[in-house]
Amino acid sequence: MEERKEEMEKKMEERKREMQEQEKRIKTRMGKIKYKLVILSGKGGVGKSTVTANLALALASKGYKVGVLDADIHGPSIPKILGVRGQQLTTGALPVGIFPAKGPLDIKVISMDFLIPNDETSVIWRGPMKSMAIRQFLADVAWGDLDFLLVDLPPGTGDEPLTIMQMIPAIDGVLMITAPSDVSGIVVKRAVGFTRELHVPLVGIIENYSGFVCPKCGAEFDILGIGGGQKISEQLGVPFLGKIPIDQRICEDSDRGKLFVIERAETPAAKAFMRVVDKVEEYLKQRGE
Ligand SMILES: Nc1ncnc2c1ncn2[C@@H]1O[C@H](COP(=O)(O)OP(=O)(O)OP(=O)(O)O)[C@@H](O)[C@H]1O
Ligand SMILES: [Mg+2]
Repeated sequence: MEERKEEMEKKMEERKREMQEQEKRIKTRMGKIKYKLVILSGKGGVGKSTVTANLALALASKGYKVGVLDADIHGPSIPKILGVRGQQLTTGALPVGIFPAKGPLDIKVISMDFLIPNDETSVIWRGPMKSMAIRQFLADVAWGDLDFLLVDLPPGTGDEPLTIMQMIPAIDGVLMITAPSDVSGIVVKRAVGFTRELHVPLVGIIENYSGFVCPKCGAEFDILGIGGGQKISEQLGVPFLGKIPIDQRICEDSDRGKLFVIERAETPAAKAFMRVVDKVEEYLKQRGE
């Protein structure tokens, strides 16, 4: 009995040491990244992954070195949107670690999608396993020197967001995505509360699906509403970063791995993404002053 207790204590001690080592590696890796931004929403399907991928492209097109961490373990979608599915990840012995996939404009990408053998395989993991995977993405991926790391999250405020918010030291800010409806607004309020509780700064709110601009005649239609995100941002005293209209080409391009914000730079939605980037740059400049 006494022996077993000793063995258990030894194992726990070892585990604690491993976790501490891992935290050190996370600090070192994250220390080489200038700005770390997290993309969050209360609700699912509001366009987090789409916004993350297009902001990454927009930033990279301005000459920044960008990485994207797809922290959606069950529904990873960044590789598809950036057209890098199927790349084999390679590794070097530690401290080198796992090399991220190389996306367009040299964007570095890491995602569970690279580790799942096929489309029919699901990841059936409970919280601790998911947290472990995310910790490993942070500790052992050879991101190198980056200007920006964008983190795409699954919806809500569960295990993955919590691990990200607690494990990444000195997050520069959270971008909150919402749809214009009141229902989305209520959920986004909770997500803002979550961010505040964890003392992570908020860059601001982005309203996606904000009206529809007809690609043929340029007329605007109010399909899912307009202005809900802006209203919430005023109520909560959070900056508003812009409205992204519905454009069916965003969806088509994502499905084909075509780079919407780059290849359709003249569309109102692409321009809206670029304006969000301007606002993020402004925010970071002010923060640095
Ligand atoms: N502004 C937009 N116009 C048209 N389609 C859009 C727009 N934004 C996102 N979409 C489409 O809506 C769908 C959902 O978007 P996306 O996967 O980015 O949402 P999400 O918030 O990441 O979802 P999840 O919560 O499941 O992670 C995708 O098919 C995407 O192409
Ligand atoms: Mg997503």
